[in-house]
Amino acid sequence: MSDISNKVCQSPGCDKPAKLQCPTCIKLKIEGSFFCSQECFKNNWAKHKAVHKAKIESEPHDPFPNYRYTGDLKAVYPLSPQREVPKSIERPDYAVTGIPISEQKTRGSAIKVLDKDEIEGMRKVCKIAREVLDIGAAAIRPGITTDEIDRIIHEATIERGAYPSPLNYYNFPKSVCTSVNEVICHGIPDKRPLKEGDIVNLDVTCYYGGFHGDLNETYLVGKVDEQGQKLVQTARECLEKAIAMVKPGIRYRDFGKVIEEHAKKNGFSVVRTFCGHGINQLFHCAPNVPHYANNKAIGILKPGHVFTIEPMICEGTWRDEIWPDNWTAVTVDGKRSAQFEHTMLVTETGVEVLT
Ligand code: MF3
Ligand code: CO
Ligand code: CO
Repeated sequence: MSDISNKVCQSPGCDKPAKLQCPTCIKLKIEGSFFCSQECFKNNWAKHKAVHKAKIESEPHDPFPNYRYTGDLKAVYPLSPQREVPKSIERPDYAVTGIPISEQKTRGSAIKVLDKDEIEGMRKVCKIAREVLDIGAAAIRPGITTDEIDRIIHEATIERGAYPSPLNYYNFPKSVCTSVNEVICHGIPDKRPLKEGDIVNLDVTCYYGGFHGDLNETYLVGKVDEQGQKLVQTARECLEKAIAMVKPGIRYRDFGKVIEEHAKKNGFSVVRTFCGHGINQLFHCAPNVPHYANNKAIGILKPGHVFTIEPMICEGTWRDEIWPDNWTAVTVDGKRSAQFEHTMLVTETGVEVLT
């Protein structure tokens, strides 16, 4: 506490000697806030309390104290300020407004068959996205915050002349999705340091030369328990088994059976709310690619189709809910979820994994 003897009342127009200091400011370690009397203190309260709010919001805190979290993970705000993308980098249509107009205009359209040049464009952006993911992954260690990983991924992306596709997509505030433990997908990078034993998914999408490339992987933070390792390994295998099916003539609805059988065999469940998707000049488009059995997805694979498979596999229930940030999807039982994603091209004879 600072010496009050030579201070004056901070109430505007009052210069009497200070007799008291705001107790909340003392508790919050805010300097100053001297008043001559309870009366001056009370008269200034309406304005003064904003000082407390600003201090609390500038320090690590839970932004949703009244939300009943499903597990141990909590958001840690403040989020860092929105990151800048150099003017010279080509942006998708939603970069300014948050609304992907081109995606909305083509909703319900047929699955696009890409031509040679478009396929070359997809190869290029997917290679960039792979490099960026690997750079982000190399930074994972206990103690690093997901916001720091976001900065590393943002910088690696713009260094390559690419735009980080998540940034401002439907107003998503960051350049990568970071999904820890019970987060299924769409986690927002924040100030929570990763802990030994966490699992964390990094979902990177880049936009370059007019095309998006999308991939994700789940990583172990230090030593993770056996069940967590098995969950991550099973999610990886679910993606591998689905990719092994890819060739012209099979149906987009066929992947779910193989994925769900493998998950169930290992005692795990498959998320139903989020699916794989077509990807090209648009971030998300036809086809829709469910990961669960007995789905009714439309379409047959044809050479030139480009799409993602990105199964989310859960330790407990597959049921999800969304945090009050309107993005973070978590399991309702608070148990962990793991995911892997690739972008791939259907070729004449099978598949080319682009990421
Ligand atoms: N990359 C995610 C996917 O696999 C989509 C993220 S959208 C965002 O489809 F806005 F959350 F970034
Ligand atoms: Co993705
Ligand atoms: Co995707």
